[in-house]
Amino acid sequence: MLGAGNMGTLSAWYLTRAGHAVTVIKDNASPMQEKTLCFPDGQRHSLNLPVRAPGQISTTIDHLIVAVKTPYSQVALPPIIQHLHAHTQLIRLQNGLGALDGLLPHGILPLEAVSTSAVKGQHPHHDIVAENTTWLGGHGEKPPWMNDLQNHWPNLVWTRDIRIPQWQKLVANAVINPLTALHDVPNGQIIDDPSLRLCAEKICMEADMVLQALNNDWPGQSLDNVLAVARATANNTSSMRADRQRGATTEIDAINGWIVRQADQLGIEAPENQAVVSALRRGSVAG
Ligand SMILES: NC(=O)c1ccc[n+]([C@@H]2O[C@H](COP(=O)([O-])OP(=O)(O)OC[C@H]3O[C@@H](n4cnc5c(N)ncnc54)[C@H](OP(=O)(O)O)[C@@H]3O)[C@@H](O)[C@H]2O)c1
Repeated sequence: MLGAGNMGTLSAWYLTRAGHAVTVIKDNASPMQEKTLCFPDGQRHSLNLPVRAPGQISTTIDHLIVAVKTPYSQVALPPIIQHLHAHTQLIRLQNGLGALDGLLPHGILPLEAVSTSAVKGQHPHHDIVAENTTWLGGHGEKPPWMNDLQNHWPNLVWTRDIRIPQWQKLVANAVINPLTALHDVPNGQIIDDPSLRLCAEKICMEADMVLQALNNDWPGQSLDNVLAVARATANNTSSMRADRQRGATTEIDAINGWIVRQADQLGIEAPENQAVVSALRRGSVAG
């Protein structure tokens, strides 16, 4: 596993429950990570994960979970690329899209995981705030290990076409993350502040045009879903707001940046998405 942070640790917990061994790949880390997971029902569990530096890996990697935040993919993957092969089963457990483009050896088609669960905290403590649906899907048939994993991972769903849940999450992230980050407000402010709500409408409209151009079956009308997410998480701090508050690089390039790149290729205008990408790259409040 690359990236045993909040989501990575939760997935490692379910994987170990299903009998799989999980090794964390990380440079300059102690040989064992002792994690604590706190679940919404108050249960606390310990999880010990062995750690290897990329230089200590001597075999091929047949299964890899990538759960680093998207901007770190470019640093995390190259040191282990030589251990991947055409049949490596790679699961990308990241928000946004396109973070691994151009980084993988020819032939690897990652499975994509989209999770609506929420985990907060800092190594070694990980608070599972909500256990919701996680979709896994991509190319080909359902892998043979999936049924058993579903017995241990609550609300884990296999889908042949991951695009619909992935794009729904993308649009929610494309609205809630940059607007709450730039204005340093909790998610519910998207509903309460008319100017933010107007920005939300424009971001959704542009995203729907792009997604409809990519796939005729995209239902559009994303605003209702996005506002429902903002309402359900009204008091929460989005991950991008949290990243910005601690001066960390955000995932903007994999979220609104991906929408802008698709729009450019399709000849569609996406000025509102471009504006939040530029503002977050500058680190200033969008005008
Ligand atoms: N957290 C959630 O609730 C949630 C929900 C749905 C989707 N997601 C998505 O899941 C992905 C991961 O998010 P997260 O919240 O789990 O992030 P996170 O807690 O920051 O975890 C990322 C992990 O990656 C590690 N890392 C960074 N650079 C690395 C490198 N070069 N090599 C190896 N490991 C490296 C970090 O280690 P250090 O801390 O030591 O740098 C950290 O353990 C993101 O795309 C996010 O959008 C998260």
